[in-house]
Amino acid sequence: MDSICVQGGIALQGEVPIQGSKNAALPILAATLLVGERSFIRNCPRIADVYAMVSLLKAMGCQVNWQEQGILVDSSRVQGHEMQSEAVKGMRSSLCLLGAMIGRCNEVVMEHPGGCVIGQRPIDLHLWALGQMGVAFGETQGLLSATADRLCGARICLPKPSVGATENIILAAVMAEGDTLIEGAAREPEIVALCGYLCACGAWIQGAGTACIRIRGGQRLYGTDYTVPADRIVAGTYLFACIAAGGNIFLEHAPGEDMGAVLTVAGRMGARLCTSREGIYVQAPPRPLSTDRIITAPYPGFPTDLQSSALVAAALGEGVTLVEETIFENRFRVVEELRKMGGRMEMLDTGKLLVRGVDTLQGALVEAKELRGGAALVAAALAAKGESVIRGCLYINRGYENICRDFRELGARVIGA
Ligand code: UD1
Repeated sequence: MDSICVQGGIALQGEVPIQGSKNAALPILAATLLVGERSFIRNCPRIADVYAMVSLLKAMGCQVNWQEQGILVDSSRVQGHEMQSEAVKGMRSSLCLLGAMIGRCNEVVMEHPGGCVIGQRPIDLHLWALGQMGVAFGETQGLLSATADRLCGARICLPKPSVGATENIILAAVMAEGDTLIEGAAREPEIVALCGYLCACGAWIQGAGTACIRIRGGQRLYGTDYTVPADRIVAGTYLFACIAAGGNIFLEHAPGEDMGAVLTVAGRMGARLCTSREGIYVQAPPRPLSTDRIITAPYPGFPTDLQSSALVAAALGEGVTLVEETIFENRFRVVEELRKMGGRMEMLDTGKLLVRGVDTLQGALVEAKELRGGAALVAAALAAKGESVIRGCLYINRGYENICRDFRELGARVIGA
């Protein structure tokens, strides 16, 4: 499915289950490498990035079986430490295999990881932090190589709360000699989920979800059964789609407790929200209100992954909204496409966009250029008058199990082609 065709202008109604979290499932699957036993990971989303991670685990010698309820990974035999695959290049989160392979084999040779084209995405913090733990890096024929004669715990003070670097440190630290203290750690719920899995396997980790995480290395790990939490970003995408297109929806399993900043912005836009353990009920306002400012920030701030979705709702808002992107410089690639639909928005400065709300968007032929921006275009098309075609939807499949099916469950007229 490379294109999605949407007949817009229909308010959303109904309920939709929210898939498991991509950004939690990927590091947890990488972490199964450390255990050397069988782990059963439930609620993994059936998305391209998870398929790619499964193929990498298999290439490393793990036995991996998809079952109805989840993925069974047996990492008792891991052979080889070379990962030269297209799957590594195409997926940013293959980077967490760096910490996992160092932890398991003390060495790894891999392609430089890829991912969405939303900025430079350097890996300097990953290399520097693992370097503190005794890992030496080299580069041969364009491949990144890492070895650790002795992997040691360390006190690491991250200058930026990088999610991926925090995950890599945790993965290596669990297997290292001695204690590791991470200061300035990322606090995202996906870090909590990774630590939840590792602790269920027998690891000793304190402080996950805070800026200071302590890990005692060298604990014996055992296989376990673990459930990936629901995806707060997918839930947020559908929430803003409802605010833009109108209607009443129930986001089943949506993790409201992890979505504070998102729910605050949605509330300021005029949505009526009711959060419970079962999910989030959303009643859209007749027209979104302007919210003055939306600023992305590391958790618990407003997630950069939902900036483009919020932008769509702001594009239809009454009044003016300033959207500031502080994490990835290239996350405004969707703006050009929204302008084709009649959106009025103006770049003020790097990372600052002024959005002047319009009464309606018009259907158009637009192109997804990255994962989250692509999903936001589907939301814009739902709200727009007439027909839209969104091309480049392979990006969307990297993070959404079946965005067309989900919106159809909410009464939208959406067809993948
Ligand atoms: C993860 C998420 C991604 C989300 C992002 C921020 C996964 C698979 N991806 O990406 O969806 O948008 O967190 O919430 O979980 N940085 C450096 N040097 C580094 C690493 C990062 O300067 O070595 C910078 C980045 O350029 C960025 C900031 O730190 O400006 C945050 O990046 P980071 O938290 O590492 O994002 P990812 O882990 O790549």
